[in-house]
Amino acid sequence: MTPSPRLLTPIPGPKSRDLAARLRQSESPNITYLADDFPVFWESASGCWVTDVDGNVFLDLTAAFGVAGVGHSHPDVVAAIQRQSTRLIHGMGDVHPSDVKVALCERIASRVPISEARVILGQNGADAVEAALKTAALATGRRGVLAFEGGYHGLSYGALDATFRDDFKAPFRAQLGAFTSHIPYGCALDDIARIVTTQEIGAVLVEPIQGRGGIIVPPSGWLAGLRDLCAAHNVLLIFDEIFTGWGRTGDWFACQYDDILPDILCIGKAMGGGMPISACVAGKDVMSAWPVSLGEALHTSTFLGNPLACAAALAATDVMSREDLPARAKESGAYFIHRLQDLQDRYPGHIHEVRGRGLMLGLKFSSRSFSLDLVTRALRAGLIILPAGDGSVIEFVPPLIITHEEIDCAIGILDALMRITA
Ligand SMILES: Cc1ncc(COP(=O)(O)O)c(C=O)c1O
Repeated sequence: MTPSPRLLTPIPGPKSRDLAARLRQSESPNITYLADDFPVFWESASGCWVTDVDGNVFLDLTAAFGVAGVGHSHPDVVAAIQRQSTRLIHGMGDVHPSDVKVALCERIASRVPISEARVILGQNGADAVEAALKTAALATGRRGVLAFEGGYHGLSYGALDATFRDDFKAPFRAQLGAFTSHIPYGCALDDIARIVTTQEIGAVLVEPIQGRGGIIVPPSGWLAGLRDLCAAHNVLLIFDEIFTGWGRTGDWFACQYDDILPDILCIGKAMGGGMPISACVAGKDVMSAWPVSLGEALHTSTFLGNPLACAAALAATDVMSREDLPARAKESGAYFIHRLQDLQDRYPGHIHEVRGRGLMLGLKFSSRSFSLDLVTRALRAGLIILPAGDGSVIEFVPPLIITHEEIDCAIGILDALMRITA
């Protein structure tokens, strides 16, 4: 049977509207965007499909911020969480750790393209970036970080300093460390060399494909040049693969596409199979900049290495390996991009560019208002999509298990919506 959304009520339906009204009374006003036509409240999800509280079924082309790489509620991940929850839900991450924390650190170390890798676990992407920034500061003794315009690294204070978005930073600027310099993504390597040699830069922090910044792929050879430049100037290269990593772009890590070994790697999102867990990984030498713990870790947190999250991450990683989901992302991504290019050929006035790699794709539209309007119209048609960059880009980052039929379904809906507008 051809897959398709199932819409039973106006979108958002009455139960979603009711929950929105309740949330308005209980949550800080900045968190959830609540409008007449947005959001729908999720009740369950499976594979690429999400059911809301009104029983409407949507095709999810976001993998819920790139997290559901193995699909929503993968049975192996569910079983692992259930099993683990009967044994141990919470452990003492840096004091009396769980066995699954050890297993996950080993698994990560064996997966990453860094030899003799050592891991610092965190709960979310920003945690991994914080750990990477601290590791680089300890290893180099230099406070400065060079990052890129359009880059997104999270919103905790260290990560926020490195994130480019002025709207996120402005209200808090007085409390930020101001240790990051920004330079255009994909700029001339000479310009980077000038900053690295004239400022006290210890690390360059880069996304191998900018995600939230608008699905921007750097010029061919640029990342390799950056690698060489960092090595030449004794600067650590941090790859933020929180979005691109764990299969999304057609390799386990996007750095492998360019055959590059970063000094420090940040991983998050899809790694946990839906549970909140992340990692900062570096080689033994770099990581040995941290002093050996004598009883109190300099960098830890209550939930570090949470057993449920570790068990879920191990199960998700097994699925990813067994089903070779990075290869599947490459193959499905090639099909998806071809179908998006068809769409561009039909609506060249509205769609200006198709870009990305693997299942990290983007359509650049003629205007922000057009694409933002498309997001709500798509929702009403049963498709969950999100804007990126300045809002004029729609990102397509579905679960890596998406089928050609599901991609056809998405394209059919987008085509119908574009036809109405064109
Ligand atoms: C490249 C990148 N780095 C860091 C982050 C921050 O991750 P989190 O929101 O889990 O803190 C994100 C989130 O979108 C991201 O895309």
